[in-house]
Amino acid sequence: MRRRLVVGNWKMHGNRASATALASNVAAGTKSCSGVDVGVCPPAILMAPVVAALAGSRVACGGQDVSEHESGAYTGETAAGMLVDAGCTLVIVGHSERRQFFGDTNDRVAAKLVRAAAAGLTPILCVGETLTERRKAETSGVIAAQLAPVLALPNIRELLARMVIAYEPVWAIGTGETATPEQAQEVHAFIRGAIAACDATAAGALRILYGGSVKPDNAAALFAKPDVDGGLVGGAALKAADFTQICAAAAR
Ligand code: PGA
Repeated sequence: MRRRLVVGNWKMHGNRASATALASNVAAGTKSCSGVDVGVCPPAILMAPVVAALAGSRVACGGQDVSEHESGAYTGETAAGMLVDAGCTLVIVGHSERRQFFGDTNDRVAAKLVRAAAAGLTPILCVGETLTERRKAETSGVIAAQLAPVLALPNIRELLARMVIAYEPVWAIGTGETATPEQAQEVHAFIRGAIAACDATAAGALRILYGGSVKPDNAAALFAKPDVDGGLVGGAALKAADFTQICAAAAR
């Protein structure tokens, strides 16, 4: 049975004081959630106080994005090695907001994933369709295209053993409109099938998270679906009580 994972994406919210308090409350609140892996992804500049606040807890820390370059003259970027050095073990790659507002292409996302994995991080690869694409019945085509450059990587077997995928329908992110558990399951099964075509054993072990308006009141129904292995949580991850309830719903 796959161990579930719940990760909070704090996006561009907080400051040293609020991030430290949130991290401490998440650490305390998830102390007894032994049957689930938990992580939080603060803004890069708040990594140090958050890592300090999480010390000794079961909560991992992760980046929200990473450069596809190892190091060099890339103003404003964060290298995978820097995230590791700061105490991170996870990193989100290809979040729809990076794709939409910052020009992340499918190829660049694959390059970021390679760089993250090479540094020893667990990359969380985000995929998902827009509302227009869903209405045009293009969901599976869009996701297949997002996965394609990753599945074509020469060390894909090695990467699959380390990575996590998050299905995040763009129309459900920050909108309060969640995919139904059935809609999520359908796409998660499609993703697992696409991975199985490449490596059946890895597909069975791969964790596929759902993201998009996950809240305490819909988490259990989503996690009950056979191919939903946890969540990537935005808005609700900013409230320790809500996030903790979501983690508890995933514990088994
Ligand atoms: P949301 O964000 O939970 O606020 O919809 C999810 C995400 O963007 O990862």
